[in-house]
Amino acid sequence: MGMFRDDFLWGGATAANQFEGAWDVDGKGLSIPDVLTGGTVDTPRRITPQLEEGTFYPNHEGIDFYHHYEEDIALFGEMGFKTFRMSIAWTRIFPTGLETEPNEAGLAFYDKVFDCCLEHGIKPLVTISHFEMPYGLVEAYNGWEGRETIDCFMRYATCVLDRYHDKVEYWLTFNEINTGTRKMGASSSLGTIRGFSGARTDLPEQPQVRFQGLHHQFVASAMIVKYAHEHYPELKMGNMEIFSPFYPLTCKPEDILLSQRETRIFDWFCTDVQCRGYYPTYMNRYFAENGIVLKMEPGDEEILREGTVDFYTFSYYMSNCVTADPDENGAKVSGNIVGGVKNPYLKASDWGWQIDPKGLHWALNEIWDRYQLPMMVVENGLGAYDKVEEDGSIHDSYRIDYLRQHIEEMAEAVKDGVDLMGYTPWGCIDLVSASTGEMAKRYGFIYVDKHDDGTGTLARSRKDSFYWFKKVIATNGEDLA
Ligand code: BG6
Repeated sequence: MGMFRDDFLWGGATAANQFEGAWDVDGKGLSIPDVLTGGTVDTPRRITPQLEEGTFYPNHEGIDFYHHYEEDIALFGEMGFKTFRMSIAWTRIFPTGLETEPNEAGLAFYDKVFDCCLEHGIKPLVTISHFEMPYGLVEAYNGWEGRETIDCFMRYATCVLDRYHDKVEYWLTFNEINTGTRKMGASSSLGTIRGFSGARTDLPEQPQVRFQGLHHQFVASAMIVKYAHEHYPELKMGNMEIFSPFYPLTCKPEDILLSQRETRIFDWFCTDVQCRGYYPTYMNRYFAENGIVLKMEPGDEEILREGTVDFYTFSYYMSNCVTADPDENGAKVSGNIVGGVKNPYLKASDWGWQIDPKGLHWALNEIWDRYQLPMMVVENGLGAYDKVEEDGSIHDSYRIDYLRQHIEEMAEAVKDGVDLMGYTPWGCIDLVSASTGEMAKRYGFIYVDKHDDGTGTLARSRKDSFYWFKKVIATNGEDLA
């Protein structure tokens, strides 16, 4: 037997709002990403509750997977994907989130997509909510701040489980749920942006609102896990978290303690609730010091206990350092939702995310030791500028190097005893960046001719990494050359 399990789930990952396009087709309603303008690494995306004439909204067309799904899934099949991570756009099924009956045209679309995957021998892995809350719920309840949103979510989530349980075995509840611990989570995952218009970086800091919203997401996540366990015991229900190491910049005890504190709040808090079924005691101090008073209803604690997940999944892109002396030490660097201080031993991507394969090895070991649940790395990858050569080829050796090094470290973690189920690199086909709205920040094995001014033929082509990943899958991760 090789390093990875025989049934290892190799594949790729996407999110509906970043690649489907067809934002107003077949009854789809407006979601938060539909009101986000484009941006760049230096210019933040803006939230425009009223769509502006003449402004470019990159998620509206995405890469038009809606009309290219057969071609795209065939390419995934050609690479040998065992699984394909995608999400369902809530607004295709319940356009404002408030309807009592689903939109059949939206449901029919995902039937076709799942059938197409299965025909190619690919198991769908579905995120129920991936940064695409109906804007109607922002207006009605300030997103997840309102307890009513739990009922709306359950109407949607039970509907898709009932419809697709015989086509989809693996489900994730909320994408990167721990973004809600940071200010940016208000727009990406919590939808607590009612009345706000302007640059996302200018969102107000509202910890009380965010952590109340997170509590409602925890309850909703546990309720749908419990529902699945009761109705469809064959299904596997997972969490989804950003895992980002916060290394102490020095061995100064203050740095060590700060690293522990940041790791607890960002990396452990949400999954302690989702995997263990209760709030960790370290949060009491954080809540007290930040003036957060959570409203819980009788029965919430029981729901959390009864709805713990079956497997643990996470995204991993980068690591950061933290220092107790920020004025004296180190340049600031950015990252996926969380930034930090520059690590002198690491290089960074063109978007400033520090590349750290060994951090993935460390993370896998830490997570395994804490929860002892099967794990999947459901996002990982290098956002980079790609150059199309005159003959149409794309030589993305930098992406191959990044992925190879991370797979090597996954293998090391497996040697250490971690139970790793699968690996789905992010943006297996080029799609719109969540943070900047750019197409230029490409992750794919498959290039899509679409650009930041909205031009492009949408033609798909294979990068060098396409052939490389095909070989990796064919050899179950043995041949990474
Ligand atoms: C994760 C998200 O944060 O990272 C994805 O789940 C996102 O939606 C991915 O696209 C990469 O981030 P970005 O900002 O480079 O698109």
